[in-house]
Amino acid sequence: MKAARRYVLVVVGGLIGIWAMATLGCANEQQQKGHELYGHYCSHCHGATGHQNEGFNWSSMPDPKPKDLSNKSEMGTLKDNDIFNTISRDMKDTSEGGDVIGDDDFAVPTMPTFKYTLSEDEIWAIVGYVRGLHGMKLEFKIEERKKELAAALQTAQANLDQATKTYEAAEKQASEEAEKKNVDVDDAVYAKEMAAMAQAKKEFDAAQAALNNFSTRPGKGTSIARPDLTVKPEQVAKMVELGQRLYENKYGCNGCHSLGAEGGKVGPPLDRAGFRLNGTWIYRWVRNPQAMKPETRMPALGLSDADARAVTMYLGTLRAPKPDAPIEKPAG
Ligand code: HEC
Ligand code: HEC
Repeated sequence: MKAARRYVLVVVGGLIGIWAMATLGCANEQQQKGHELYGHYCSHCHGATGHQNEGFNWSSMPDPKPKDLSNKSEMGTLKDNDIFNTISRDMKDTSEGGDVIGDDDFAVPTMPTFKYTLSEDEIWAIVGYVRGLHGMKLEFKIEERKKELAAALQTAQANLDQATKTYEAAEKQASEEAEKKNVDVDDAVYAKEMAAMAQAKKEFDAAQAALNNFSTRPGKGTSIARPDLTVKPEQVAKMVELGQRLYENKYGCNGCHSLGAEGGKVGPPLDRAGFRLNGTWIYRWVRNPQAMKPETRMPALGLSDADARAVTMYLGTLRAPKPDAPIEKPAG
């Protein structure tokens, strides 16, 4: 009797354990994912536990220095959505005469965007991790959002099927009637059903894109075509100037790369980029680093074709002498 009761307890205990693991599993998986992504993409600037001067890049960065993510009184004023929008935004040209920046826009060039590098659910997992660094919990429900998007896709699919059937029936009826009367089919008779079907298809495509974007990295499977980098000689100086401005004031490349004694050290120094790297390679790299090296810590910053050309031109002018070599005599 006693043995049997113990056996029941063990079985029940085991079942509760399995149930707990199944329900907590999802949450743990998100947490684990957020932790790993934060370690790879954020900790060099913000530190493993979010404290200032903890990340190896912190002290080399220009002002403003990376925020203290462990500071609850400051970080607590931000909503989950605010943090998401900071990490997933378009970079703004902060130079005078650059982009218009609204009061609510976060526009610090040296805080990179991850909008073009990570999927939305990955960014939400990171937001959850950041919340933990200042002792708060993510309120946004990642799994629920994914379920909502999947349900919306199903509804859109059903609507499209229905609209297609209605259209086919209307078209069939119109051609049968035309045949009876021995006249040409009048397309206008079923134009309404055709427009409804086109609209349903549009909504279906949008629902599918929303679901895909949620869980797929944006750059995945895209590769950047070789650019034609020829520039009219009279445009060179202007482009180089623009490139330098974008490098510092829009994309904050200096937060991760150094020129001389200035700048971050997440990536290699770029003082000699003009000697070492070829323009076509630079252009393709800055537009989508992940296409060349999927796990690189350098995010895709959303450079347009024009911005990438200007930045490439600028990097081509970086030709510092080797640190330990005598300065070369200029030719001629
Ligand atoms: C190259 C260094 C760098 C990296 C990498 C970086 N950050 Fe930042 N971060 C900054 C800087 C600089 C600021 C702005 C500080 C300020 O405004 O005073 C900042 C600000 C923030 C803020 C505050 C936003 C606000 O509205 O005030 C959050 C949250 C944040 N970063 C999260 C992250 C997360 C999460 C990652 C990784 C996905 C990350 N950062 C990667 C440099 C970095
Ligand atoms: C968050 C940090 C970060 C930012 C911001 C960043 N980079 Fe990088 N970059 C890196 C890292 C890390 C590497 C090294 C690549 C690797 O092997 O993973 C790199 C590599 C490079 C290289 C190749 C250098 C070499 O010697 O092989 C170039 C060129 C470059 N980055 C240019 C830029 C430009 C231009 C910008 C701004 C538009 C920029 N980077 C912004 C981190 C960054």
